[in-house]
Amino acid sequence: MIMRRLSGRVILRCWFVSLLMGAMAQLSSGAVRSGEVWLDTGGKPINAHGAGVMFHEGTYYLYGENKEGRTWLPEINKSWDGYRVDVTGVRCYSSKDLTAWKDEGLVLKAVPDDPAHDLHPSKVVERPKVAFNPRTKKFVMWMHIDSPDYKAARAGVAAADSPTGPFAYIESVKPEGQDSRDQTMFVDEDGKAYRVYSSENNDTTYISLLSDNWLRHSGKFVRIFEKRRMEAQVVFKRGGKYYFLASDCTGWDPNPMRSAVAGSIWGPWKELGNPCTGPDAEKTFFGQSTFVFAVTGKQDAFIFMGDRWNKSNLPDSRYIWLPIEFVGEGMKIQWRDSWDWSVFDAQAAAR
Ligand code: GAL
Repeated sequence: MIMRRLSGRVILRCWFVSLLMGAMAQLSSGAVRSGEVWLDTGGKPINAHGAGVMFHEGTYYLYGENKEGRTWLPEINKSWDGYRVDVTGVRCYSSKDLTAWKDEGLVLKAVPDDPAHDLHPSKVVERPKVAFNPRTKKFVMWMHIDSPDYKAARAGVAAADSPTGPFAYIESVKPEGQDSRDQTMFVDEDGKAYRVYSSENNDTTYISLLSDNWLRHSGKFVRIFEKRRMEAQVVFKRGGKYYFLASDCTGWDPNPMRSAVAGSIWGPWKELGNPCTGPDAEKTFFGQSTFVFAVTGKQDAFIFMGDRWNKSNLPDSRYIWLPIEFVGEGMKIQWRDSWDWSVFDAQAAAR
């Protein structure tokens, strides 16, 4: 009996040590291995899908959809494979080095006791993006809010006093009187903030200027890529130019990435095609764009973030992070099994 208990404990300890060593190996090497399970500092798989990154006072914050529980296909979504997990909330992680991520918990939680609430488990909460408004000192989160059949097509907003929340949910709106599904937020160098989103039943992308407190739409907007049907929009700025990434509309299934460039956020936007190169480029390496951010303190170090969805087991969806290379007026994104920030030094040396 004693022997059995001892060996059980030894086995448990060995298992724990190997788990810890696995996580530490991943962290200390600083390598990004897209498509693999990424562990947080507590040894749990990182759960932040359709995510974005915010850098604030020396720390990176990662915010994304918490996907847990069963994945199922509601009858109403059968025609287009609209698999779902019930809404649990938005999870945040913090990191100083972009490698060791500490789980900060659910910073916006589902509201299970009110079936009419936008955050009820039966609804859809996707693609949360957070930015800090220095004018109001609030952290503002915009997200895609929807009904289970994706027909409500609304934009939701929440705000917090701290990057790790709790975020107080404010409301959802139909911006410019139109649909808003896949979405992102972009803050320009002059402090103006914009929402970029799929509208007109996903036919056309809209860019809307937000109000000064970033909690409302200002009424100023532009329609871009008319009838090009795009989702998973990303906007970022480099050297005075605005860059755009997006996908086609094929639900959880991958398709070729789109890209574009403009001299002004209001356009004209010039479409440049799929920036992915090499094997599986036409499937965006089995991923879909969600965000791009610049590594602080490194010149021209932009990281592409994507989701590799697993539609029949959504919580097991993985992440793709790859360095962006700027070539001519556009970009190049190539697959790497494993890479670290020294890629950016090599890019700088080659310029
Ligand atoms: C994708 C979209 C995801 C999610 C999914 C549902 O195209 O980018 O965020 O809405 O469709 O099928």
